[in-house]
Amino acid sequence: MTLNIYPDAAETARALVRFVLKVVEETPREKVNIALSGGSTPALMFDLWAEEFAKQTPWQRLHLYWVDERCVAPEHPESNYGMTRKHLLDKIPLSPEQVFRIIGERNPEQEAKRYADFVASRLPEEDGYPVFDLVQLGAGDDGHTSSIFPDQKELLTTEAIYAVGTHPTTGQKRVALTGQPILRATHVAFLMAGTAKAPILRDLCSDVDTGPAAYVAHHAMHDTQVFADDAAGSHVK
Ligand code: 6PG
Repeated sequence: MTLNIYPDAAETARALVRFVLKVVEETPREKVNIALSGGSTPALMFDLWAEEFAKQTPWQRLHLYWVDERCVAPEHPESNYGMTRKHLLDKIPLSPEQVFRIIGERNPEQEAKRYADFVASRLPEEDGYPVFDLVQLGAGDDGHTSSIFPDQKELLTTEAIYAVGTHPTTGQKRVALTGQPILRATHVAFLMAGTAKAPILRDLCSDVDTGPAAYVAHHAMHDTQVFADDAAGSHVK
């Protein structure tokens, strides 16, 4: 795991965009399969990507998927697709044939199966799991990643490619990319900003699988990068 720390959230987000562009450039296939996470942290990254890096991004090469999605409609304020559309997709020249959302308003179990089959049908595979070129992850203050929560660790080892996670406090259902395909991604990139992430980043830098995010960081099979600001890195410097 490579830890990359920057003075503030904006510089951290810019560094991750530059890393994404590097991955695109180095991917030996025309279409680059990227899975994006939701939450609040990526919004800044998406704004900066659209506003400062649009000209150097070969948009025609990107196929965008989602790591996870809350089981709500796109118009819902908690929709990851809705957030990505507002901060990125509505500002860049991607055609609908390049963007593959998880349909949050459908039955969660059925959508997890549909999306898993869809992704598996389009991506290269390793050990029977689809391999994304890049999986962008966040880490929750409780140590979750994707929508694999600490009390649902079975999603880290299940053979299902996407599964239904349940938010431990709200009970909200989510369709989530599971541990095994995440571990097989060519590149895994965590984006972490703010002091609340400091204990989790410390866990990622330890060798104890304290939670799903730490498990992914410790067991990912290829390149794992962490992009964090000083505040998130305050427990590891
Ligand atoms: C989600 C995300 C989730 C997120 C972390 C961090 O749907 O919530 O995919 O895994 O990345 O919870 O979220 P913040 O960026 O809001 O801290």
